[in-house]
Amino acid sequence: MPRPELVPRRPWQGRRILLGVTGGIAAYKSIQLARDLTRLGAEVDVVLTAAAQKFVAPLSFEGVTGRPVLTDLFSVDGAAMHLRLGKDADAICVAPATADFVARAAEGRADDLLCTALLATHAPVVVCPAMNDRMFAHPQVQENVERLRQRPGYVIAGPGVGALAAGEEGGPGRMLEPQDITEYIGRALGAEDAYRERRVLVTAGPTREALDPVRYVGNRSSGRMGYAVAAAAWRRGASVTLVSGPSSLEPPVGVDLVRVQSADEMFAAVADAIGAADVSVFAAAVADFRPTTTESDKVKREAVGDEFAVLLAPNPDIAGETRDRRKAGSVTVGFALETTDLLENARKKLAKKDFDLLVANDVTQEGAGFDVETNRVTILDKQGEPESLPLMSKDAVAEEILDRVASRLSARR
Ligand code: PMT
Repeated sequence: MPRPELVPRRPWQGRRILLGVTGGIAAYKSIQLARDLTRLGAEVDVVLTAAAQKFVAPLSFEGVTGRPVLTDLFSVDGAAMHLRLGKDADAICVAPATADFVARAAEGRADDLLCTALLATHAPVVVCPAMNDRMFAHPQVQENVERLRQRPGYVIAGPGVGALAAGEEGGPGRMLEPQDITEYIGRALGAEDAYRERRVLVTAGPTREALDPVRYVGNRSSGRMGYAVAAAAWRRGASVTLVSGPSSLEPPVGVDLVRVQSADEMFAAVADAIGAADVSVFAAAVADFRPTTTESDKVKREAVGDEFAVLLAPNPDIAGETRDRRKAGSVTVGFALETTDLLENARKKLAKKDFDLLVANDVTQEGAGFDVETNRVTILDKQGEPESLPLMSKDAVAEEILDRVASRLSARR
């Protein structure tokens, strides 16, 4: 059977990003960043400071962005250029941001093209510090970073802890990885009124119900669908709590991650968070049953004989039993994982668990359901006709869900 076509998606088409690169060893990673932003559809204007050009060449950035790199304030068009760059940018990112750049930006200096463009913009600015950890810890640098953090529209992304070029002592100093910086830029570009100052709760992944210390009853959920919703909600400006069963995925940038194992633990975490949530999305594949007893030692094959019967008892229905704790006016989204009678079963779950929206996926369809990068879903609400979406990446499905939640949130504001 031919593989179904994916819906092409270039989310930042028509968006303009100014990427400032200053003179630190991490500048080589910014070539990847420029490439990633360009592949997402953005027009990326790169400005290299004089010090950055000691580490990376303009040609590398021109190669990945297909656009001329800018370096000089004091040129024929430099003077007009800083105004145009600042005015045209939908977002500005400085990566890496050295101690010297942070000091100059905090002072509001205008001694090069990058700092001058910062003074000429109303766009959000993401600053990604990168330096030796001792330098980053210095009170003067901390003071400068704080001044930038307090400035409206500015976000400080990182630095992280990890290997540094020299002299590391285990403190923060390392520039965030390009994919994490991309998420920060995504939030700078994508924050929307519907999600500003909103709390979003997402459940994701499987639960594991222990039989003994080494074995469990579980399912094949990877967590991808829920993680995609959590990441997308954060990019739209929400504060996000992600309650996740065991998953090998990297936690999405910016979210508060609560790790759980069993349905009971997931129930407790959801019960704790749901009262403050403006939006709850139940994407987890919760094991409906758990063994009635959990052996304290590993069950030995010899002790079992020819048959090993496991008695199962139902787990709590997390979405259903936390219904009374939902915040008034909040929007709740459930999922339904089906193998037969997709719409009929989905409608029953929508009503029984009192969801506003239900996202139904049929695991028997190619590219849908568990442990794949894609999903094919039908979205239902209590009023209208079901909407069947084509096969898409789980990231794209997450955006579709959040679009529909946004219109409901705005209507209830
Ligand atoms: O994690 P991935 O590999 O990306 O796979 C994604 C997914 C297939 C797990 C996801 O798209 C999905 O369908 N999640 C819901 C799976 C499921 O458990 O469906 P259900 O029909 O059994 O449950 C209905 C709803 O009630 C779900 O929102 C579920 O989270 C919730 N539920 C179910 C059982 C339970 N005890 N408590 C619950 O809250």
